[in-house]
Amino acid sequence: MAKVKRVGVLTAGGDCPGLNAVIRAVTKSLINKHNIEVVGIRDGFLGLIDKRAIMLSSNDVSGILTQGGTILGTTNKANPFKFHVERNGQIVVEDLSDDVIANAEKMGIEALICIGGDGTQHISHELGAKGMHVIGVPKTIDNDLRETDLTFGHDTAVSIATDAVDRIHTTAMSHHRVMVIETMGRNAGWIALNAGIAGGGDIILIPEIPYKLDAVKKKIEDRVRNGRLFSIIVVAEGARPAGGHMVIRERVSDPTEPIRLGGIGQKVADDVERVTGIESRVTVLGHLQRGGTPTAFDRILATRFGALAADLVADGIYGKMTALKGSEIVPVPLEAAVAGLKLVDPESSIVKAAREVGTSFGDET
Ligand code: F6P
Repeated sequence: MAKVKRVGVLTAGGDCPGLNAVIRAVTKSLINKHNIEVVGIRDGFLGLIDKRAIMLSSNDVSGILTQGGTILGTTNKANPFKFHVERNGQIVVEDLSDDVIANAEKMGIEALICIGGDGTQHISHELGAKGMHVIGVPKTIDNDLRETDLTFGHDTAVSIATDAVDRIHTTAMSHHRVMVIETMGRNAGWIALNAGIAGGGDIILIPEIPYKLDAVKKKIEDRVRNGRLFSIIVVAEGARPAGGHMVIRERVSDPTEPIRLGGIGQKVADDVERVTGIESRVTVLGHLQRGGTPTAFDRILATRFGALAADLVADGIYGKMTALKGSEIVPVPLEAAVAGLKLVDPESSIVKAAREVGTSFGDET
């Protein structure tokens, strides 16, 4: 296969720290090592629908390694296979994937590097099935993509959430309160689990282990009996009581991700205050977890992912996602990466380790 001359790069879905580090690595490697031009596509797949892009030079990406967000812009509402358009005053869902492929061709883009999470990699895989040359790079604070040990962005989110847990500790102790901290993560409990362990949370509630209010109450009251008059609960936005439902903050007109989670923290705080009589407060970390500069770990991971993505494209290898396996960065089939979400295994050693140091998951009988 002849070497490609021009490669497109886009960032899609929710932003997270490390996106710019990938853009930088992809661009520098393609231009300097492989002598291939790079086009930065604006606002994810939207830029391929309305043909908005810029040529990127090595200089353009100089100095962006440490910057959060994405210099290209992003959106989590532009799935070309299910695109919302207005026709005669009505919003209808259309498949614009053929337009995307045609537009990429018109823009001289022979291969596409898609930096994004589960939704983005599904789209990348579907475009690949239609003949487009695609490589995926796994991004998300949620860490819920299969076939990679970690996604970049997660470590930064966990650091931010851990810092919050540390800070909440001192005020919880002073006031003898129950403090609930709600993290993001959608259907996966990774952020709450990791920040909860790192911050020494007393109770961690995650979607993968439905909780019982009685068990949460017992843990808090046991602590009080032992002279620990405060408790810290780290709850993932997707957590739910056994037999109950996730708390939905809003429903949006997005066919790929029609619900936004949020509000479980307030529910847990209200319920805990009611059944224990202990004053409870909630802090929702929200988009703070996605903002600011990436940790050193995420900068390195993002750079390694970007460099491999560039090498794969230069070698004419497509339909892969870059992945971390142990300490190596390797290509894995995109198809396998999108075969389902990577959720926390309740029987995993990390959950067991947390239980061994006395952390409750709200499921004890
Ligand atoms: O997938 C990343 C994520 O931050 C989730 O953890 C969260 O549920 C969602 O995106 C929030 O989306 P939005 O930025 O559209 O509110």
